[in-house]
Amino acid sequence: MRFLLHAALVLAVSATAHAATPPARPARLGLCAACHGEDGMARIPGAPNLAGQKLDYLRDALRQYRDGRRDIPVMRAATGPLTDAELDQLAQWFSAQIPSRAAP
Ligand code: HEC
Repeated sequence: MRFLLHAALVLAVSATAHAATPPARPARLGLCAACHGEDGMARIPGAPNLAGQKLDYLRDALRQYRDGRRDIPVMRAATGPLTDAELDQLAQWFSAQIPSRAAP
């Protein structure tokens, strides 16, 4: 019984720790930061905030730009050289950012 309780506690603690672990900083973040900010809050007029956006939405959007299904030249250029794994890292990063107050 004591053992079971201990095991349950360890599981609960590690599950919480896992959920709270921020994603690793993507190697390609520099390709996006000038427009979307490292924190996902846009730095230029006309660029959307990405912080806190749904992970699957970001993931799909990035593939759509890269593959030309969303035909926006700046985003095609930014995503063109990236692999699925790199796009996923970026989607996870931006999705995990906490939105702050948008710049006017
Ligand atoms: C030169 C500026 C610029 C750069 C660099 C750039 N973006 Fe964008 N991004 C934009 C603009 C402008 C849009 C809006 C395009 C549209 O109308 O679909 C956009 C749209 C997006 C969207 C879709 C948001 C939505 O709500 O549909 C995502 C996701 C995104 N960018 C991620 C990235 C990532 C990741 C990178 C780096 C690999 C990047 N962007 C680089 C300007 C930029």
